[in-house]
Amino acid sequence: MEKYLVFGNPIKQSRSPYIHTAFAKQTQQAISYQAQQPELDGFKAAVKTLIAEQGKGANVTAPFKEQAMQLCDELSERAKHAAAVNTLSFIDGKIYGDNTDGLGLVQDLLRHNVVLKNANILILGAGGAVKGVILPLLEQQPATLVIANRTVSKAQALCEQFGSDKMTGCGFDDIKNTTFDLIINATSASLTGEQPPISEQLITEKTICYDMVYRKELTPFLHWAQELKAKAVIDGLGMLVGQAAESFNIWRGVMPEVEQVLNDLRVEINNS
Ligand code: ATR
Repeated sequence: MEKYLVFGNPIKQSRSPYIHTAFAKQTQQAISYQAQQPELDGFKAAVKTLIAEQGKGANVTAPFKEQAMQLCDELSERAKHAAAVNTLSFIDGKIYGDNTDGLGLVQDLLRHNVVLKNANILILGAGGAVKGVILPLLEQQPATLVIANRTVSKAQALCEQFGSDKMTGCGFDDIKNTTFDLIINATSASLTGEQPPISEQLITEKTICYDMVYRKELTPFLHWAQELKAKAVIDGLGMLVGQAAESFNIWRGVMPEVEQVLNDLRVEINNS
């Protein structure tokens, strides 16, 4: 049985063991997948131990994604742009790093029939989570990608880093009143029960609202958007399962089916 782990601190909340175990069953792959919580200064040692134990790979979540990048011998383009790694593969003595978060988001949006080509997209937030999804979103050829953030300089810095003429950065108060097809909340505000302070006028019956966070109830942002009669509101559970599917595919060369696992996980969360 080949061994995989997810590293994070904290890690108790992680759904990754559930998801990967379900994928393994579905695709008949003989793997074990567990969660591990290294001490904050113990990530590198934990990875070395996993490699010594013949582990084949690992997922990495907060706060170790940047450290994971430092450990890699080779990085995918996506991981380089994201400056963070969520998928480690150990092959012939080398460590390979990838970042599947953005693919997970795009896959989930497409699964919901959200049209990204030529779309006007607004992203709220400019932290690590945003950095990871910009390249896969740009690859879908949107018309515009506006990054709005509480700290304006961080939004502008991201635009400079990616150097795409489709991107602009601004503060929440300076969002031009374009009709956005899609608004993605990637701030960590949902985690504390808050929502980014954007104008109600940005939500029309044509706007799809996505929150990268998921929880049992609608997040404050999605609740607000629903009240304003947004076209659709979608939470980030599908992104979570989607990024896991991409990691599984990198390791095992088999793309699992997301839908059933996502439905089962939703039931599991609702019952918890
Ligand atoms: P992550 O990896 O989840 O992106 P992060 O890098 O710490 O975490 O970034 C958090 C993001 O949420 C930032 O864009 C942050 O805004 P600032 O750059 O101005 O700090 C945003 N954020 C956090 N709390 C927020 C709040 N209450 N309202 C609006 N934005 C918030």
